[in-house]
Amino acid sequence: MTVRPAPSKGDAEVAQTLGALRDQAARAMEAAYAPYSGFRVGAALLSADGAVAAGCNVENAAYPAGVCAERVALGAAVAQGHREFLALAIATEAQEPTPPCGVCRQALVEFAPDLVVLSVTRGGREARWTLHELLPHAFTPHSLDHSRH
Ligand code: THU
Repeated sequence: MTVRPAPSKGDAEVAQTLGALRDQAARAMEAAYAPYSGFRVGAALLSADGAVAAGCNVENAAYPAGVCAERVALGAAVAQGHREFLALAIATEAQEPTPPCGVCRQALVEFAPDLVVLSVTRGGREARWTLHELLPHAFTPHSLDHSRH
């Protein structure tokens, strides 16, 4: 029996997928509800099966009740039945690409420790990390194994 390597996407296809993901994050940013900070954020999360879930930040007069774009996108994706994720695009109007906050890093690592995280600005600047780089030594579901005797 011949064993073939799993078909992998070509560079051009990956670039196209990530381009579309950036566009969806930028579109989601337009829906941001951020009257208190004025800092609008959009996020688009790509699932392993190609589905994309978008989110924006949703602030609240009771400030701690506000939620980041990334966790809105993650919640939407999970609610649609997705649990495996490949890439996240974040869009803001900041001068420099902004990384996801610590709470969002923790929320994401539960599902996707190897997630590719792209952050883009309106001016076309872009940064790219892996979630592992952004959150080394993460507390994961596996960490709980060691607490059971
Ligand atoms: N925010 C996000 O949506 N994602 C982040 O990763 C950082 C911060 C939101 C939260 C709040 O609505 C506003 O940006 C300012 O912190």
